Amino acid sequence: MLLNQEKGLSEIINFFKTNNLASNYINDNLIEFLQANINDKSKILNKVRDDLTYPNLDELTVVRHFTNLSRKNWAIDVGIYPLGSCTMKYNPKINDYIAKDKRLLNLHPLENKENIQGILKILKELENYIKELVGMDEVSLLPAAGAHGEYASLLIAKKYFEKKYRDKNRKKIVLIPDSAHGTNPASATMANFEVKTIKSNTLGQIDLQDLTDYINQNKENIAVFMITNPNTLGIYEKNIELITKICKENDILTYYDGANFNAIIGKLKPGDMGFDMLHLNLHKTFSTPHGSGGPGSGPIAVKEFLAPFLPIPRISLKNNVFNLDFDYPDSIGMIRDFWGNILVLIRALNYILSYGNQINKVAENSVLNANYLKLRLKNYFVDLYKGFCCHEFVLSASNYKSKGIKAFDIAKRLLDYNVHPPTVYFPLIVEECLMIEPTETESLESLDNFVKSFENVIKEIETNPEILKEAPLTTPVKRINDALASREPKPTIKSIIY
Ligand SMILES: Cc1ncc(COP(=O)(O)O)c(C=O)c1O
Repeated sequence: MLLNQEKGLSEIINFFKTNNLASNYINDNLIEFLQANINDKSKILNKVRDDLTYPNLDELTVVRHFTNLSRKNWAIDVGIYPLGSCTMKYNPKINDYIAKDKRLLNLHPLENKENIQGILKILKELENYIKELVGMDEVSLLPAAGAHGEYASLLIAKKYFEKKYRDKNRKKIVLIPDSAHGTNPASATMANFEVKTIKSNTLGQIDLQDLTDYINQNKENIAVFMITNPNTLGIYEKNIELITKICKENDILTYYDGANFNAIIGKLKPGDMGFDMLHLNLHKTFSTPHGSGGPGSGPIAVKEFLAPFLPIPRISLKNNVFNLDFDYPDSIGMIRDFWGNILVLIRALNYILSYGNQINKVAENSVLNANYLKLRLKNYFVDLYKGFCCHEFVLSASNYKSKGIKAFDIAKRLLDYNVHPPTVYFPLIVEECLMIEPTETESLESLDNFVKSFENVIKEIETNPEILKEAPLTTPVKRINDALASREPKPTIKSIIY
């Protein structure tokens, strides 16, 4: 398309040239040719086709190239990946295998209803399992990510109150604890709400006094109470039912960020805790990897009274025929093209079915693994939130500050011991934070190995702290200059390495 516009063409050429991409091909002769033939698309295409030749490489060279490339990266298939707040667990390959079935893979989203009865049945079945797991009445599988689910739910809250009070400006505030995931305040702001942050106390729980004082003074204007539970400290909010009750009494909708569902799946239901709406991250808990930029899915679930506002289309079953139903006049409307990230949804259903009534083991083992690691590691750091954790926990590395060592240095040195480091500097309320989430899929041997790597690094802080400052020393990419990388992002690796 841009080839017909001179400006677009020179922009493309400049981009290639300044970023040192395809430098052999983009030379002055080619540029002259392109400029001379700017309006003759087929001539340009023919030239490109003639010029580009297939690489003449033998199979072994190609296999070695890609195998070596894959070894430059870290993956759960290689070792433990305990990034807090990310639930980087092993996802059984059987679920990929089933999602890859040609009958599912080749379906076109604009197929006639008669030809997609099978997939609609699969999706309806997943909706029903999610309802059961979370204790809600209706589900939409459409949102493509956790934050997308949050945003859609906040639009639902907005529509609900607008309809109830016929006043767009009455309920403008969303209450969010300071221990929430960062997407919560971001989604509320995107949905045009004002965010009021609620403080946590020294136990990592919501400060009830702070919450009730604020509600008493502003109840008219508060639309939603939004909580990540367990929160980003890995702590379960013990007053949760009291809080949802207070909200209900004050006409405040309650939202449960269920992205940390790994901690409670099969054990507790947010609907039973009194929540009105929630989202799940299928790409954390339900067999799709989190991260790497692949598709995700953040289904939302609501209580009956909010169902009319759910996004469209909704899957309905009438006279034994499944439909994609658009006829919901109060709906917030369509929130994306087509019908959801279907292959992620298929994996999730398969994951649920393969666990069956043993799905609570996911929560039990993820909490067990996190507590085991916490017990083994806490004495090396500052343990601000004492006692048991849920599926993840935080420790502060502030005790090494006097030696000039930061959480960042510890994380980088861990890479040299062939383990992936935990999340660092999140949540923001903990100084020099290390946030560790082993997940249920790591064995005792793997956890012990992780602890041993930590112990090696701690020993080095005493004996050779300088080495931490230079780490990682063994990875294909060495220490990144973060500040430069974010100020001047460039696609060349050379420009961002010390
Ligand atoms: C607790 C929590 N909430 C929300 C999100 C946002 O999910 P997404 O990255 O899919 O938008 C995440 C992501 O990890 C999360 O951990």
